[in-house]
Amino acid sequence: MANLHTHFAGISSPNPFWLASAPPTDKAVNVIRAFEAGWGGVVWKTLGEAGPAVVNVNGPRYGGLMSPDRRLTGFNNIELITDRDLEVNLREIKEVKRAWPDRAVVVSLMVPCNEEAWKAILPRVEDTGCDGIELNFGCPHGMSERGMGAAVGQVPEYIQMVTAWCKQYSKLPVIVKLTPNITDIRLPARAAKAGGADAISLINTINSIMGVDPYSLSMVPSTGGKGSHGGYCGPAVKPIALNMVAEIARDPATAGLPISGIGGISTWRDAFDFIALGAGNVQVCTAAMVYGFKIVQEMIDGLSNYMDEMGFTSIEDFRGRAIPTVSDWKYLNLNHITKAVIDQDKCIECGRCHIACEDTSHQAIMATKDGQRHFEVKEEECVGCNLCTLVCPVPECITLRNLAPGEVDLRTGKTVSAEHLDWTMHPNNPARAA
Ligand SMILES: Cc1cc2nc3c(=O)[nH]c(=O)nc-3n(C[C@H](O)[C@H](O)[C@H](O)COP(=O)(O)O)c2cc1C
Ligand code: SF4
Ligand code: SF4
Repeated sequence: MANLHTHFAGISSPNPFWLASAPPTDKAVNVIRAFEAGWGGVVWKTLGEAGPAVVNVNGPRYGGLMSPDRRLTGFNNIELITDRDLEVNLREIKEVKRAWPDRAVVVSLMVPCNEEAWKAILPRVEDTGCDGIELNFGCPHGMSERGMGAAVGQVPEYIQMVTAWCKQYSKLPVIVKLTPNITDIRLPARAAKAGGADAISLINTINSIMGVDPYSLSMVPSTGGKGSHGGYCGPAVKPIALNMVAEIARDPATAGLPISGIGGISTWRDAFDFIALGAGNVQVCTAAMVYGFKIVQEMIDGLSNYMDEMGFTSIEDFRGRAIPTVSDWKYLNLNHITKAVIDQDKCIECGRCHIACEDTSHQAIMATKDGQRHFEVKEEECVGCNLCTLVCPVPECITLRNLAPGEVDLRTGKTVSAEHLDWTMHPNNPARAA
């Protein structure tokens, strides 16, 4: 029987599903309802320093990218950190943790980038009895204009410096939340490790503009006719987040540093991808905002069923197992040959594969045969690019077949070799290895 219990950076939780720091974790009433629904932990909505709270816009703070069937595939926000009083937040965190000792309660923090500010807030947070802190070096809007959030997360030296202050002035586990708005995600991760971080979490939101109204010609969403770039998240960002998680997971410089995976997680399958690529747990924001707290039940049941099916008793049994399959392009086997195959019994003759291949790939799908409408792959043209399988509306109608060593590739006339040949050794590469 699968055991979903996790120990992430020394923090225990009954399952790997945490709510990310965002509106779902903004106040006790939400967090309690989330715990009742089954979430294993929360990262409380980011707290700022004592004093007057931040002020949010009173116009639309969210924007969406919709699929044709009106599913929210991308989500954009210009919300700031918590606009509630620090004292109220600290009191509620203390009460919630006391009432839910088995759940993880981590507090997200963002204060000015000076030692005194961090030194002042850390003991107050520790007093709540929370399990850890997450340093929000990610918000790409508003707070970054004030020298916080992504403005810190984009400078590895600052990340290391602030992380070290937190380790110096607090006994709590420190999770450093990274911004994706950077060229090489490995550099801030290495800086967090150098500063003594117990873990990293990623991704925070991606800088974005959602669009322009064609009649007013103003950016949308807008507040009084003007908009600001905001943070992008939701299902559309998951591949970007997965790549960043994998980059860090396979970087020898950060090997073993626990990773909390965030970005576009809506189902157990999404969570599985992050864990298989090295994440020790996951955090969710957009899916909870769109579908409500109860989505965690699908995540728990789905992951448990999968683990039972595979004979995995704990998350550690498959965590990171896919990392060795992530490679640089230059090491891919150029002797591996695939061809598309159309299942004639499933084909509804819509013609989409033909148009896609004809106009933009390798003219490898015929549209007629013996004067009749008929779709079939011409193996002598097919390069196995996968475009047709992606545009075909019928599941499993087009599949890719691997040619076995010894078979002849009709496109090149060459016999498929069993030997591995990648670009580093390829005869066309002037810089190939001797
Ligand atoms: C409305 C909104 C507010 C957010 N506020 C915070 C915040 O205060 N602190 C923080 O670290 N991340 C914040 N985030 C980022 C999320 O925690 C998360 O990193 C991001 O949304 C990606 O996850 P998702 O694709 O599951 O939404 C916010 C996201 C949204 C949508
Ligand atoms: S795999 Fe690519 S080249 Fe082959 S038939 Fe499909 S679209 Fe054409
Ligand atoms: S896209 Fe699929 S269903 Fe449509 S013609 Fe091609 S194989 Fe048939």
